[in-house]
Amino acid sequence: MRWSEASDSSKSAFHRKKITVVGAGHVGATAAFLAAQKELANIVMIDVMDGVPQGKALDMFESSPIQGFDALVHGTQDYAETADSDLVIITAGIARKPGMSRDDLLNINVKIVSEVTRSIVKYSPNCIILVVTNPLDAMVYTALKVSGFPKQRVIGMAGVLDSARMRAFIAQELQVSIENVAACVLGGHGDTMVPVPRYSTVAGIPITELMGAERVALICERTAKGGAEIVELLKTGSAFYAPGASVVQMAEAIIRDKKRILPCAAYLEGEYGVDGYYMGVPCKLGRDGVEAIIEMNLSDGEAAALHQSMLAVKELVKKVDAFGHF
Ligand code: NAI
Ligand code: 2OP
Repeated sequence: MRWSEASDSSKSAFHRKKITVVGAGHVGATAAFLAAQKELANIVMIDVMDGVPQGKALDMFESSPIQGFDALVHGTQDYAETADSDLVIITAGIARKPGMSRDDLLNINVKIVSEVTRSIVKYSPNCIILVVTNPLDAMVYTALKVSGFPKQRVIGMAGVLDSARMRAFIAQELQVSIENVAACVLGGHGDTMVPVPRYSTVAGIPITELMGAERVALICERTAKGGAEIVELLKTGSAFYAPGASVVQMAEAIIRDKKRILPCAAYLEGEYGVDGYYMGVPCKLGRDGVEAIIEMNLSDGEAAALHQSMLAVKELVKKVDAFGHF
Protein backbone atom coordinates (compact mmCIF):
# COMPACT_ATOMS: atom_id res chain seq x y z
CA MET A 1 0.00 0.00 0.00
CA ARG A 2 1.17 3.53 -0.72
CA TRP A 3 0.03 6.67 1.03
CA SER A 4 0.67 9.90 -0.93
CA GLU A 5 0.10 13.12 1.00
CA ALA A 6 -1.73 15.63 -1.16
CA SER A 7 -0.13 18.52 0.68
CA ASP A 8 3.14 19.24 2.49
CA SER A 9 2.85 16.98 5.54
CA SER A 10 5.87 18.58 7.20
CA LYS A 11 3.47 21.42 8.07
CA SER A 12 0.66 20.92 10.56
CA ALA A 13 -1.76 18.37 9.17
CA PHE A 14 -4.57 19.98 11.13
CA HIS A 15 -6.07 23.28 10.08
CA ARG A 16 -8.53 23.48 12.89
CA LYS A 17 -9.31 26.41 15.12
CA LYS A 18 -7.26 26.66 18.30
CA ILE A 19 -8.55 27.13 21.84
CA THR A 20 -6.23 27.73 24.77
CA VAL A 21 -7.47 26.99 28.28
CA VAL A 22 -5.42 28.73 30.97
CA GLY A 23 -5.64 26.85 34.26
CA ALA A 24 -5.90 23.07 34.00
CA GLY A 25 -7.77 22.71 37.28
CA HIS A 26 -11.35 21.57 37.78
CA VAL A 27 -13.10 24.06 35.48
CA GLY A 28 -10.29 24.30 32.92
CA ALA A 29 -9.89 20.55 32.46
CA THR A 30 -13.66 20.02 32.29
CA ALA A 31 -13.99 22.76 29.66
CA ALA A 32 -11.07 21.40 27.65
CA PHE A 33 -12.54 17.90 27.64
CA LEU A 34 -16.02 19.08 26.61
CA ALA A 35 -14.63 21.37 23.89
CA ALA A 36 -12.53 18.52 22.50
CA GLN A 37 -15.53 16.19 22.53
CA LYS A 38 -17.48 18.75 20.53
CA GLU A 39 -14.52 19.02 18.10
CA LEU A 40 -14.61 22.80 18.46
CA ALA A 41 -10.86 23.13 17.93
CA ASN A 42 -7.48 21.75 18.87
CA ILE A 43 -6.98 22.47 22.55
CA VAL A 44 -3.92 23.73 24.44
CA MET A 45 -4.06 23.64 28.24
CA ILE A 46 -1.55 25.72 30.16
CA ASP A 47 -0.97 25.80 33.92
CA VAL A 48 1.81 26.70 36.34
CA MET A 49 1.72 23.18 37.84
CA ASP A 50 4.49 21.28 36.12
CA GLY A 51 3.17 18.16 34.36
CA VAL A 52 -0.49 18.69 35.26
CA PRO A 53 -1.71 20.16 31.95
CA GLN A 54 0.52 17.71 30.08
CA GLY A 55 -0.85 14.71 31.97
CA LYS A 56 -4.49 15.75 31.75
CA ALA A 57 -4.17 16.63 28.05
CA LEU A 58 -2.59 13.29 27.21
CA ASP A 59 -5.26 11.47 29.19
CA MET A 60 -8.00 13.34 27.29
CA PHE A 61 -6.33 12.72 23.94
CA GLU A 62 -6.12 9.02 24.74
CA SER A 63 -9.92 9.01 25.26
CA SER A 64 -10.47 10.30 21.71
CA PRO A 65 -10.60 6.86 20.04
CA ILE A 66 -13.34 5.83 22.49
CA GLN A 67 -15.24 9.08 22.51
CA GLY A 68 -14.71 9.43 18.77
CA PHE A 69 -13.44 12.99 18.53
CA ASP A 70 -10.86 14.43 16.18
CA ALA A 71 -9.17 17.15 18.16
CA LEU A 72 -5.64 17.37 19.47
CA VAL A 73 -5.28 18.12 23.17
CA HIS A 74 -1.92 19.35 24.37
CA GLY A 75 -0.58 20.54 27.73
CA THR A 76 2.24 22.97 28.36
CA GLN A 77 3.85 25.57 30.62
CA ASP A 78 5.07 27.60 27.63
CA TYR A 79 2.90 30.42 26.26
CA ALA A 80 4.69 30.19 22.89
CA GLU A 81 2.67 27.01 22.33
CA THR A 82 -0.58 28.96 22.73
CA ALA A 83 0.34 31.24 19.81
CA ASP A 84 -2.40 32.24 17.38
CA SER A 85 -5.25 30.90 19.47
CA ASP A 86 -8.69 31.90 18.19
CA LEU A 87 -10.15 31.74 21.67
CA VAL A 88 -8.61 31.75 25.14
CA ILE A 89 -10.52 30.64 28.23
CA ILE A 90 -9.06 31.92 31.52
CA THR A 91 -9.80 29.72 34.51
CA ALA A 92 -6.49 30.29 36.31
CA GLY A 93 -6.71 31.33 39.94
CA ILE A 94 -7.89 30.10 43.28
CA ALA A 95 -11.43 28.86 43.90
CA ARG A 96 -13.76 29.26 46.88
CA LYS A 97 -13.66 27.15 50.00
CA PRO A 98 -16.51 27.06 52.56
CA GLY A 99 -17.00 30.43 54.23
CA MET A 100 -15.35 32.35 51.39
CA SER A 101 -17.30 34.58 49.05
CA ARG A 102 -16.32 34.94 45.41
CA ASP A 103 -15.11 38.42 46.36
CA ASP A 104 -12.59 37.04 48.87
CA LEU A 105 -10.65 35.70 45.90
CA LEU A 106 -9.99 39.13 44.44
CA ASN A 107 -6.58 39.96 45.93
CA ILE A 108 -4.93 36.79 44.64
CA ASN A 109 -6.78 36.37 41.38
CA VAL A 110 -6.32 39.94 40.13
CA LYS A 111 -2.56 39.32 39.99
CA ILE A 112 -2.96 35.95 38.29
CA VAL A 113 -5.45 37.22 35.69
CA SER A 114 -3.28 40.26 34.93
CA GLU A 115 -0.17 38.13 34.43
CA VAL A 116 -1.98 35.53 32.34
CA THR A 117 -3.66 38.15 30.16
CA ARG A 118 -0.30 39.78 29.34
CA SER A 119 1.07 36.43 28.16
CA ILE A 120 -2.03 35.63 26.11
CA VAL A 121 -2.01 38.98 24.34
CA LYS A 122 1.68 38.62 23.48
CA TYR A 123 1.10 35.38 21.58
CA SER A 124 -2.52 35.68 20.43
CA PRO A 125 -3.17 39.35 19.72
CA ASN A 126 -6.33 38.61 17.74
CA CYS A 127 -8.01 36.13 20.06
CA ILE A 128 -11.29 36.39 21.91
CA ILE A 129 -10.92 36.02 25.68
CA LEU A 130 -13.53 34.28 27.84
CA VAL A 131 -12.91 34.82 31.55
CA VAL A 132 -14.18 32.38 34.18
CA THR A 133 -11.99 33.26 37.18
CA ASN A 134 -13.79 34.84 40.16
CA PRO A 135 -14.82 37.37 41.23
CA LEU A 136 -16.00 37.22 37.66
CA ASP A 137 -17.15 40.76 36.89
CA ALA A 138 -13.95 42.22 38.33
CA MET A 139 -11.65 39.65 36.69
CA VAL A 140 -13.11 40.15 33.22
CA TYR A 141 -12.70 43.91 33.76
CA THR A 142 -9.05 43.22 34.65
CA ALA A 143 -8.56 41.22 31.45
CA LEU A 144 -10.14 44.02 29.38
CA LYS A 145 -7.88 46.68 30.86
CA VAL A 146 -4.69 44.61 30.70
CA SER A 147 -5.31 43.32 27.17
CA GLY A 148 -6.31 46.64 25.64
CA PHE A 149 -8.63 44.55 23.40
CA PRO A 150 -11.92 45.94 22.15
CA LYS A 151 -14.75 45.19 24.58
CA GLN A 152 -16.43 42.79 22.13
CA ARG A 153 -13.47 40.40 22.49
CA VAL A 154 -13.27 40.18 26.29
CA ILE A 155 -16.28 38.41 27.78
CA GLY A 156 -17.15 36.89 31.15
CA MET A 157 -18.91 33.59 31.83
CA ALA A 158 -21.49 33.58 34.60
CA GLY A 159 -25.00 34.13 33.23
CA VAL A 160 -25.03 30.86 31.30
CA LEU A 161 -24.20 29.04 34.53
CA ASP A 162 -26.61 30.99 36.75
CA SER A 163 -29.48 30.62 34.29
CA ALA A 164 -28.67 26.91 33.79
CA ARG A 165 -29.03 26.45 37.55
CA MET A 166 -32.35 28.29 37.51
CA ARG A 167 -33.52 26.20 34.52
CA ALA A 168 -32.60 23.00 36.34
CA PHE A 169 -34.52 24.03 39.46
CA ILE A 170 -37.60 25.06 37.41
CA ALA A 171 -37.62 21.78 35.47
CA GLN A 172 -37.30 19.87 38.75
CA GLU A 173 -40.11 21.84 40.40
CA LEU A 174 -42.57 21.49 37.50
CA GLN A 175 -41.44 17.99 36.45
CA VAL A 176 -40.96 19.04 32.82
CA SER A 177 -38.19 18.54 30.31
CA ILE A 178 -35.23 20.85 30.68
CA GLU A 179 -35.59 21.45 26.93
CA ASN A 180 -38.78 23.44 27.51
CA VAL A 181 -37.29 25.69 30.16
CA ALA A 182 -35.63 29.07 29.63
CA ALA A 183 -34.42 31.27 32.48
CA CYS A 184 -33.18 34.80 32.74
CA VAL A 185 -30.56 35.92 35.27
CA LEU A 186 -29.04 39.38 35.00
CA GLY A 187 -26.42 41.35 36.92
CA GLY A 188 -23.14 40.56 38.60
CA HIS A 189 -22.05 37.00 39.45
CA GLY A 190 -22.47 37.38 43.18
CA ASP A 191 -25.08 37.35 45.90
CA THR A 192 -26.79 40.32 44.24
CA MET A 193 -27.42 38.57 40.91
CA VAL A 194 -30.93 39.20 39.57
CA PRO A 195 -33.04 36.18 38.54
CA VAL A 196 -35.98 37.54 36.51
CA PRO A 197 -39.00 35.18 36.78
CA ARG A 198 -41.09 37.29 34.36
CA TYR A 199 -38.67 36.37 31.58
CA SER A 200 -38.19 32.78 32.74
CA THR A 201 -40.49 30.46 30.86
CA VAL A 202 -41.69 26.94 30.27
CA ALA A 203 -42.68 26.48 26.62
CA GLY A 204 -42.98 30.26 26.39
CA ILE A 205 -45.19 30.62 29.50
CA PRO A 206 -43.71 32.77 32.30
CA ILE A 207 -43.09 30.70 35.44
CA THR A 208 -45.04 33.31 37.40
CA GLU A 209 -48.16 31.82 35.74
CA LEU A 210 -47.16 28.24 36.50
CA MET A 211 -46.28 28.29 40.21
CA GLY A 212 -47.02 30.29 43.31
CA ALA A 213 -45.00 33.36 44.29
CA GLU A 214 -43.44 31.46 47.21
CA ARG A 215 -42.04 28.69 44.95
CA VAL A 216 -40.78 31.28 42.49
CA ALA A 217 -39.02 33.15 45.31
CA LEU A 218 -37.40 29.93 46.58
CA ILE A 219 -36.09 29.10 43.10
CA CYS A 220 -34.67 32.63 42.72
CA GLU A 221 -32.97 32.37 46.11
CA ARG A 222 -31.51 28.92 45.38
CA THR A 223 -30.22 30.22 42.03
CA ALA A 224 -28.48 33.21 43.64
CA LYS A 225 -26.90 30.89 46.21
CA GLY A 226 -26.22 28.08 43.71
CA GLY A 227 -22.44 28.44 43.82
CA ALA A 228 -22.35 28.45 47.63
CA GLU A 229 -24.59 25.34 47.78
CA ILE A 230 -21.97 23.36 45.83
CA VAL A 231 -19.06 24.81 47.86
CA GLU A 232 -20.74 23.72 51.10
CA LEU A 233 -21.11 20.18 49.74
CA LEU A 234 -17.66 19.82 48.18
CA LYS A 235 -15.77 21.57 51.02
CA THR A 236 -12.52 21.60 49.02
CA GLY A 237 -13.46 23.80 46.06
CA SER A 238 -16.30 25.02 43.92
CA ALA A 239 -18.49 23.80 41.06
CA PHE A 240 -16.90 22.72 37.80
CA TYR A 241 -19.12 20.47 35.66
CA ALA A 242 -21.83 23.08 35.02
CA PRO A 243 -19.26 25.93 34.81
CA GLY A 244 -17.16 23.93 32.32
CA ALA A 245 -20.24 23.18 30.21
CA SER A 246 -21.32 26.83 30.39
CA VAL A 247 -18.09 28.28 29.06
CA VAL A 248 -18.00 25.67 26.30
CA GLN A 249 -21.49 26.70 25.20
CA MET A 250 -20.16 30.25 24.82
CA ALA A 251 -17.03 28.98 23.04
CA GLU A 252 -19.17 27.00 20.60
CA ALA A 253 -21.32 30.04 19.81
CA ILE A 254 -18.16 31.99 18.95
CA ILE A 255 -16.13 29.30 17.15
CA ARG A 256 -19.14 28.17 15.06
CA ASP A 257 -20.43 31.76 14.61
CA LYS A 258 -23.85 30.67 15.84
CA LYS A 259 -25.16 34.13 16.80
CA ARG A 260 -26.68 32.58 19.93
CA ILE A 261 -28.36 34.82 22.45
CA LEU A 262 -26.71 33.96 25.74
CA PRO A 263 -26.40 35.80 29.04
CA CYS A 264 -22.79 37.03 29.25
CA ALA A 265 -20.81 39.42 31.38
CA ALA A 266 -20.40 42.21 28.81
CA TYR A 267 -18.76 45.62 29.17
CA LEU A 268 -21.60 48.11 29.36
CA GLU A 269 -21.36 51.68 28.15
CA GLY A 270 -24.80 53.08 28.81
CA GLU A 271 -26.87 49.92 28.35
CA TYR A 272 -29.15 49.26 31.33
CA GLY A 273 -27.98 52.61 32.72
CA VAL A 274 -24.54 51.14 33.52
CA ASP A 275 -21.37 52.80 32.31
CA GLY A 276 -17.89 51.32 32.51
CA TYR A 277 -18.62 48.00 34.25
CA TYR A 278 -19.17 44.38 33.31
CA MET A 279 -22.60 42.96 34.07
CA GLY A 280 -24.57 39.91 33.03
CA VAL A 281 -26.93 40.79 30.18
CA PRO A 282 -28.30 38.94 27.13
CA CYS A 283 -25.81 39.13 24.24
CA LYS A 284 -25.54 37.88 20.68
CA LEU A 285 -22.39 35.73 20.51
CA GLY A 286 -20.70 35.03 17.22
CA ARG A 287 -17.29 35.03 15.54
CA ASP A 288 -16.63 38.66 16.57
CA GLY A 289 -17.46 37.95 20.22
CA VAL A 290 -20.26 40.08 21.68
CA GLU A 291 -21.95 41.21 18.47
CA ALA A 292 -24.95 42.83 20.16
CA ILE A 293 -26.29 43.56 23.62
CA ILE A 294 -30.03 43.14 24.06
CA GLU A 295 -31.76 45.64 26.31
CA MET A 296 -34.89 44.14 27.85
CA ASN A 297 -37.66 46.23 29.33
CA LEU A 298 -37.42 45.93 33.10
CA SER A 299 -39.98 46.75 35.78
CA ASP A 300 -39.01 49.31 38.41
CA GLY A 301 -38.29 46.51 40.90
CA GLU A 302 -36.09 44.59 38.43
CA ALA A 303 -34.22 47.75 37.45
CA ALA A 304 -33.64 48.62 41.11
CA ALA A 305 -32.26 45.12 41.81
CA LEU A 306 -29.95 45.43 38.81
CA HIS A 307 -28.75 48.78 40.12
CA GLN A 308 -27.92 47.18 43.49
CA SER A 309 -25.98 44.47 41.67
CA MET A 310 -24.08 47.13 39.72
CA LEU A 311 -23.13 48.84 43.00
CA ALA A 312 -21.62 45.55 44.24
CA VAL A 313 -19.62 45.16 41.02
CA LYS A 314 -18.51 48.80 41.32
CA GLU A 315 -17.04 48.12 44.79
CA LEU A 316 -14.99 45.23 43.40
CA VAL A 317 -13.79 47.21 40.41
CA LYS A 318 -12.68 49.98 42.78
CA LYS A 319 -10.39 47.42 44.44
CA VAL A 320 -9.08 46.23 41.07
CA ASP A 321 -8.33 49.81 40.01
CA ALA A 322 -6.50 50.36 43.32
CA PHE A 323 -4.14 47.49 42.44
CA GLY A 324 -3.10 49.39 39.31
CA HIS A 325 -1.98 46.28 37.42
CA PHE A 326 -2.62 47.90 34.10
P1 NAI B 1 -8.77 24.94 40.51
O1 NAI B 1 -8.00 25.30 41.71
O2 NAI B 1 -9.22 23.54 40.33
O3 NAI B 1 -7.92 25.33 39.20
C1 NAI B 1 -7.25 26.54 39.06
C2 NAI B 1 -5.99 26.26 38.29
O4 NAI B 1 -5.34 27.51 38.00
C3 NAI B 1 -4.97 25.41 39.08
O5 NAI B 1 -4.64 24.24 38.37
C4 NAI B 1 -3.77 26.34 39.24
O6 NAI B 1 -2.52 25.67 39.20
C5 NAI B 1 -3.96 27.25 38.02
N1 NAI B 1 -3.20 28.49 38.10
C6 NAI B 1 -2.98 29.29 39.17
N2 NAI B 1 -2.21 30.33 38.81
C7 NAI B 1 -1.96 30.20 37.48
C8 NAI B 1 -1.25 30.97 36.54
N3 NAI B 1 -0.62 32.10 36.88
N4 NAI B 1 -1.20 30.53 35.27
C9 NAI B 1 -1.81 29.37 34.90
N5 NAI B 1 -2.51 28.61 35.76
C10 NAI B 1 -2.59 29.02 37.04
O7 NAI B 1 -10.01 25.93 40.44
P2 NAI B 1 -11.33 25.79 39.56
O8 NAI B 1 -12.36 25.07 40.34
O9 NAI B 1 -10.94 25.29 38.23
O10 NAI B 1 -11.80 27.32 39.46
C11 NAI B 1 -11.03 28.24 38.73
C12 NAI B 1 -11.60 29.64 38.89
O11 NAI B 1 -12.87 29.73 38.26
C13 NAI B 1 -11.83 30.08 40.33
O12 NAI B 1 -11.47 31.44 40.48
C14 NAI B 1 -13.33 29.90 40.51
O13 NAI B 1 -13.84 30.72 41.53
C15 NAI B 1 -13.80 30.33 39.16
N6 NAI B 1 -15.14 29.87 38.81
C16 NAI B 1 -15.95 30.78 38.20
C17 NAI B 1 -17.21 30.43 37.78
C18 NAI B 1 -18.06 31.41 37.07
O14 NAI B 1 -19.26 31.20 36.95
N7 NAI B 1 -17.51 32.49 36.54
C19 NAI B 1 -17.74 29.07 38.02
C20 NAI B 1 -16.77 28.18 38.63
C21 NAI B 1 -15.52 28.58 39.01
C1 2OP C 1 -20.12 29.17 41.06
O1 2OP C 1 -21.09 29.91 40.87
C2 2OP C 1 -17.93 29.31 42.16
O2 2OP C 1 -18.74 31.12 40.89
C3 2OP C 1 -18.74 29.75 41.05
O3 2OP C 1 -20.24 27.95 41.22
